[in-house]
Formats: sequence, structure tokens, C-alpha cells
Amino acid sequence: MIAGHVTIDGQRIPFSAGQSVLDAALAAGVYIPHLCHHPDYAPHGSCRLCVVAVNGRTTSACTLPASDGLSVANLTEELQSMRRGLLQMLFVEGNHVCPACELSGSCQLQALAYFCGMLEPGFNHFYPQRPVDASHPDAIIDFNRCILCELCVRASRDADGKSVFALTGRGMQTRLSINSPTGLLG
Ligand code: FES
Repeated sequence: MIAGHVTIDGQRIPFSAGQSVLDAALAAGVYIPHLCHHPDYAPHGSCRLCVVAVNGRTTSACTLPASDGLSVANLTEELQSMRRGLLQMLFVEGNHVCPACELSGSCQLQALAYFCGMLEPGFNHFYPQRPVDASHPDAIIDFNRCILCELCVRASRDADGKSVFALTGRGMQTRLSINSPTGLLG
């Protein structure tokens, strides 16, 4: 049931009760860039790629409740520039080797970089030394590609009730950890 309308870049979009601006936009076929959002899990608000502007102030669309009459700016050059900066930081902080990656062409991070017009890294690459966990017979975790979106943390905790994953550490030392005696997925 329609609870009201929001306006995104001048386009009037209906929303139902409880939807965020991002939920309403996606349901109406209006794309707001996003990375850490997944429709099956609670909003996380961590990647900030869904940054939009309301009355000139920026906020994340995935955590912004839709309300009747709300007017939101989405694909302005200023917001796209902010998104490019965030993407550049994600790319240099990990080891994302798109030309040699088996998921090239099927990667949300890469697709967002194209969508936002990111043409260069913008910052010096960190080239962190990170492991690959191949201890499990069915799954490999390449920590070089992890962007700390916590989708795996939320899926394991909220959908499976297992809490296999967690983020540990602070700031630059934040990393994905496996909840097992060895610290390995296997
Ligand atoms: Fe909104 Fe990541 S999708 S902060």
C-alpha cells in the first residue's frame, strides 16, 4: 500500500510504510548507487556509496526513512564525485586486480566504478599483504578483495543464525575474522 511519495532528482516515486529512500528508489527502478545494502538484511549504512542530499545535507539513502514530500538529490555531479572518492579509497586500500580477476564483469564494486566514472585510483595503492583462506573444501575467502561491507557477517548471523564471521580490530586494522578455533574457514 502506498504511504506517500518522495521526489528523487525531480522524479516522483511512491513508497510503502517502512521503506527507506533506497528501497523505494530501487522498487521504482530508480538506481541509487550502493554497496553494503541488501534487501534481505537490515540497513547497514557503512559504505556511504548511497550518499544523497536532502536540503543540501548529505546522508545515506539506505538508512533514510522515506517520508511524504521528501525531496532528494541523487545523481548530481557533486554526489557522484563524492562516490568516486569513496570508490578510489576502496580500490587502493585492497588488492583489486580487475583485469586478472575471474569476477571481472560480474562485480558490484567494478560496476559502480564504471557507473560513477572512476578512471584512475586517485591515491597511492596500499598493496596490503593479505592471506587467502583456502582451508574449506567448498569456499575460498580472498581477503584481498574484502571491502568490509559485512554482508557475509549479516547473512551468517541473521539468515543462518551461525555468526561464522565478524569484523575485528579498529580503523586501518579492521579485518574480517572467522569464528573458529583456528581462525580458518575450514
Ligand atoms: Fe547505504 Fe552502503 S548502501 S551506506
